[in-house]
Amino acid sequence: MIVLCAGPKGGCGASTLAATVAAGLVERGVAPHRILLLDAGPHATLSQWAQVAQEHGRTLPPVARWRPGCDAAALARGFEHVLLDGPAPLGRGGALPPDLWLAPVRPVGPDTWSLGQLRCTSWTGPRGRLRVVPWRVPPRAKFAPWRRALEADGFAVAPILARDRLAYAHALADGRLPTRAGDVAVRAEAAALGGYVLGWGAVDRTAQPKEAVCASLPRRLLH
Ligand SMILES: Nc1ncnc2c1ncn2[C@@H]1O[C@H](COP(=O)(O)OP(=O)(O)OP(=O)(O)O)[C@@H](O)[C@H]1O
Ligand SMILES: [Mg+2]
Repeated sequence: MIVLCAGPKGGCGASTLAATVAAGLVERGVAPHRILLLDAGPHATLSQWAQVAQEHGRTLPPVARWRPGCDAAALARGFEHVLLDGPAPLGRGGALPPDLWLAPVRPVGPDTWSLGQLRCTSWTGPRGRLRVVPWRVPPRAKFAPWRRALEADGFAVAPILARDRLAYAHALADGRLPTRAGDVAVRAEAAALGGYVLGWGAVDRTAQPKEAVCASLPRRLLH
């Protein structure tokens, strides 16, 4: 599985999402060395995370830094799951086309507005593989109306989420997988995410009804 973790704007949680998907896959029994975290993020967050882990003698799934000109497909060879942390164009044009694109979005106004940009992406891969992942959901937030508005605008929202929990930030700062931060809620969220990704890979998406991402801006959300 090639999973692109990229959101519509900076700081939306893409790197944390990639680390959490990795943790969730491990939680679901995937061997860490079968997972590659391919870091194309603007701030090299995952590479720095890996460096901290190394300094503390901790083991993470392998992290490779991708830079323009690198052969992403060559880096990905031999891995069962590749988690691309980076801007969408990495998966464009066949370099490493994602099977699934997870876009973390905080279910609050301004972050949601930027979703329109995902519609304008020049990624030419098959449509219907983009899933918005509610991310940094505030405690007790009721976000059903947000979900409905997004769906009415043609976005598919994944049935998983991560709440706003300091344990996510601490895990990365400590060079740990989020599931190793000692927070049971984070562990449960990561496991759900890992299960979702594995379930996605097991399903023949071509048999699914077309979930086209339409070409207009999300007007309902802009009003
Ligand atoms: N679920 C969460 N709960 C609390 N804090 C979070 C969560 N997810 C991410 N964060 C924090 O939000 C900030 C941005 O996260 P992250 O670096 O993953 O975003 P990004 O989209 O990769 O940013 P960049 O544009 O730098 O690539 C970080 O401080 C991170 O610790
Ligand atoms: Mg990042």
